Amino acid sequence: MSRRKQLKLGAILHGVGGSHTDWQHPDVSPNASINIDFYKKQALKAEEGKFDLVFIADGLYITEKSLPHFLNRFEPLTLLSAIGSVTSHIGLVGTLSTSYSEPFNVARQFASLDQISRGRAGWNLVTSYMEGSAANFGKENHIEREERYKIAQEYLDVVRGLWDSWEDDAFVGDKQSGQFFDPNKLHTLNHKGQYYSVRGPLNISRSKQGHPVVFQAGSSGDGRGLAAREADAVFTGLESIEDAKAFYADIKARAAGFGRSPDAIKIFPAIGPVVGKTTEEAERKYQEIANLVTVEKALDYLGRYFNHHDLSQYPADALFEDLDIYNWPSIRSGNEVIKRQAKEERLTLREVALRVATPRPGFIGTPERVAALIEQWLEEDAADGFIVGAAVPSGLDDFVDHVVPLLQARGIYRKEYESDTLRGNLGIPIPANRYTQPQ
Ligand SMILES: Cc1cc2nc3c(=O)[nH]c(=O)nc-3n(C[C@H](O)[C@H](O)[C@H](O)COP(=O)(O)O)c2cc1C
Repeated sequence: MSRRKQLKLGAILHGVGGSHTDWQHPDVSPNASINIDFYKKQALKAEEGKFDLVFIADGLYITEKSLPHFLNRFEPLTLLSAIGSVTSHIGLVGTLSTSYSEPFNVARQFASLDQISRGRAGWNLVTSYMEGSAANFGKENHIEREERYKIAQEYLDVVRGLWDSWEDDAFVGDKQSGQFFDPNKLHTLNHKGQYYSVRGPLNISRSKQGHPVVFQAGSSGDGRGLAAREADAVFTGLESIEDAKAFYADIKARAAGFGRSPDAIKIFPAIGPVVGKTTEEAERKYQEIANLVTVEKALDYLGRYFNHHDLSQYPADALFEDLDIYNWPSIRSGNEVIKRQAKEERLTLREVALRVATPRPGFIGTPERVAALIEQWLEEDAADGFIVGAAVPSGLDDFVDHVVPLLQARGIYRKEYESDTLRGNLGIPIPANRYTQPQ
């Protein structure tokens, strides 16, 4: 009997939530973003639900208008190290920017997380889209997108080269002979490229999954190209099944174009499921979250898509397409979709802001409905898995307690972990060490 395509799941953990107002919900503690006990509890819940991974997003620039969660939160690798010490199977994926870091440090940090967690680390490679980040790193300008991705490509080559510094059996630790390591199994990278000069070797060896898993979240042509060529997994923000299918087909075709097996790259749309025992209960839960949003807050939120532009200076009832925003260069791919929809549907600024700030989740309803939708997306090749981002913490409990058992009963989701490494659970092969590969 042929085995059905198996669903992969990640949980995005984001303290006080992913909107300006989630923190005001009665279930949310205002200090959740810096409460390690909260994160541990959420990670353990996701592990109870046999999730492949927890996912920590990140950014490097804030203003007073940033989301509450962005204002006061943990650095991802520090946080994941703590989560890793109380969990045993779930993967630990953290976001780190190639535009504002050095490959040697980053290779070392992820290799350390990978050893600490015994093979469960993952890196969400981003290039940072917010211009303000530059001023926090002594830079005059934020580099343009095309070049950011060129840098990211070379950066990743360097990091992977450093990860292979030591062959797996390099450390012999022979007390009799006094030999700590075999010098033939130590490799110095000696990288000299357009952007980086890195000698190596790295001062830490590979974990049992070989390399940390590399996630990519860019959606422009450059971002997709890097993802298809290099990433083990892609995180995407698409909500409609048509868009997701097109994205899925595009990434898999691009991967094949680079000589890769389409199965070697897993695609994870982000979803924010709202689950209730009945349709009415789910609707009530959504309204509890949506009703927290005022127009002012929604305008602030929308401003994020336009480099924190102050949208409160325009009349809220003006037609969105009449704003001069249309003449600006695109900063984030998401804002193209917003502009297009606003034009097509002739939406006002107020309507656009509320829609973006409190999007009605596609995955809303009874556990049966949500499980059926997930199965449909999986079977119709719109996704290999999902990153579940519950607006309020009880949303993750609802998903694990009520949706996961249905997914298991449908035969599309594990009842037990297949492996204790992230690669093992995702079904992604362990990369051979470049220095020991047969020629
Ligand atoms: C679902 C999703 C999650 C993302 N998470 C982060 C993040 O945590 N930190 C970050 O700097 N960028 C994040 N990004 C932004 C991407 O890395 C990328 O900069 C953005 O999608 C623009 O892509 P592009 O530059 O290829 O157009 C995320 C993007 C998506 C679609």
